[in-house]
Amino acid sequence: MKPQPPSSSAPRLLRLGVLGSGKGSNFVALADACAAGQVAAQVVSVLSDVEAAGILDHARTRGLPATFISPGKFRTKLEDDAESEYVRNLQNAGVEWVVLAGFMRILKGGFLRSFPGRVVNIHPSLLPAFPGLEAWRQALDHGVKVTGCTVHLVDEGVDSGPILGQATVPVLDDDTPASLHARIQEAERHLYPAVIAAIAQDRIRFDGRRTRGFSMNAPSAR
Ligand code: GRF
Repeated sequence: MKPQPPSSSAPRLLRLGVLGSGKGSNFVALADACAAGQVAAQVVSVLSDVEAAGILDHARTRGLPATFISPGKFRTKLEDDAESEYVRNLQNAGVEWVVLAGFMRILKGGFLRSFPGRVVNIHPSLLPAFPGLEAWRQALDHGVKVTGCTVHLVDEGVDSGPILGQATVPVLDDDTPASLHARIQEAERHLYPAVIAAIAQDRIRFDGRRTRGFSMNAPSAR
């Protein structure tokens, strides 16, 4: 029997590669939203620099290709050969957009040029406030009353690329770093799939650093 062409009514699914180093709660939210048809995308490769990372287990449980690629000798970035291997894996899988979900290494120009303007990250603060590590703790120590999370394009700076979407989370009087972090992560699990859905539908328009086409009411914070 001759192979049938794909049905024209099936939506085209954006091909995503997800990179993470940790437990993978953002990946789970995104992969499950894709599987449920809420995001017109599919995860085609999951990569980690940590062999025992929960994100790899979550991917395997869902039957998705999951690969540990050793980062090499550095602590905060990938060795050149390792970075090339990440790019090779993603290109072989036909990845169109790269989604960073708790990937704890800085990606250099070579990687970013392989996916120009198509690498996104989620950060646990309202950027440009509190870039870098433990942003929830920075927000608490600074004494802000509102913080949140940000999905942004990745450039060569630290958490500095154009902002695609944000969600707010109030800081409560009795918050600890752990309680605030937990509520921010809850907000992330709504924000990230919603922004990727907008990307998959080609709704986001760029005007320098300004972007249009995505907005979202803050998820309930408590
Ligand atoms: C998220 O909280 C995100 O803000 C930061 O890394 C964390 C990853 O958590 N970039 P998880 O692995 O998705 O649970």
